[in-house]
Amino acid sequence: MSSDRPVAIVSGAARGIGAATARRLAARGFTVALVDLPVDPERHHPVPGPYRHATGADLDRAAAACGGHGEAHSADVRIAAEIDRVVAGVVERHGRLDAVVAAAGAVAGGQPTWRTDDEVWRAMIDINLTGVFNLARAAVPALLDAPEPRAGRFVAIASAAAHHGLPQMAAYSAAKHGVAGLVRALAAELGGTGVSANAVAPGSTDTEMLRASAAIYGLDSVAGFAEQARIGRLIDPEEIAGTVEWLCVDAPGSLTGAVIDVDGGFRA
Ligand SMILES: NC(=O)c1ccc[n+]([C@@H]2O[C@H](COP(=O)([O-])OP(=O)(O)OC[C@H]3O[C@@H](n4cnc5c(N)ncnc54)[C@H](O)[C@@H]3O)[C@@H](O)[C@H]2O)c1
Repeated sequence: MSSDRPVAIVSGAARGIGAATARRLAARGFTVALVDLPVDPERHHPVPGPYRHATGADLDRAAAACGGHGEAHSADVRIAAEIDRVVAGVVERHGRLDAVVAAAGAVAGGQPTWRTDDEVWRAMIDINLTGVFNLARAAVPALLDAPEPRAGRFVAIASAAAHHGLPQMAAYSAAKHGVAGLVRALAAELGGTGVSANAVAPGSTDTEMLRASAAIYGLDSVAGFAEQARIGRLIDPEEIAGTVEWLCVDAPGSLTGAVIDVDGGFRA
């Protein structure tokens, strides 16, 4: 039996943009499966440099903020078997899948391309690009399994680095360019099915990731990013999450294959 509420899966949902997205989708009537990789900072350090993953407490808090409609799932987007398991469990429990948001990401860098080591390169490609692929491969068949007329939504969080090369972040930039290509190919394949695939490309957004980016660039704080932004401030994670919510709930089915900039005028 399928549940009356639509069902969404959000990766990277323990904090930041993913957590805000999960909360908003729950408020719009979804049951939300929040996926993240709670890392014990005392024991794990899976990304080289200052970036730190969310904790189990962050994930539990984000699920609780979904007002009884969030469920926490611990899984690593790099590992296909873990994502397959989460998606299969959600579909089995709720009997449907309506929206999928790939927001998990991490940042590392600080060296020019020719001095980037294998560990940084692999972490950035594995988390930021393969992680989106693993979720799409596992979840799109369930979006296509919906009865007609289908209206499934796949949304990936790309970045301004999906169309600009960020200095000293070649691996991150390459991965995010890859996300844009992946989403466009997916949209082309999904044409005529009623299921759409889009990406949202944020500029500097006030999250833990931006603080890690500041540290990578040797900055004391994120204030420099706000000064550089055309809007003269950082973007609130709610602004990105609001765009994702709109894509999942209100946007027309003809909006597909798009990479939507919410970047404070970065490209203006
Ligand atoms: N903050 C910005 O300025 C900015 C700008 C452009 C794009 N983005 C993108 O937005 C998305 C959300 O990032 P955020 O800014 O909210 O940062 P964040 O660090 O607060 O959130 C990212 C989440 O992804 C999780 N995660 C990382 N690796 C994972 C893995 N292997 N498996 C499962 N979960 C994993 C982290 O634990 C964290 O909870 C990312 O894809 C990021 O690249 C952020």
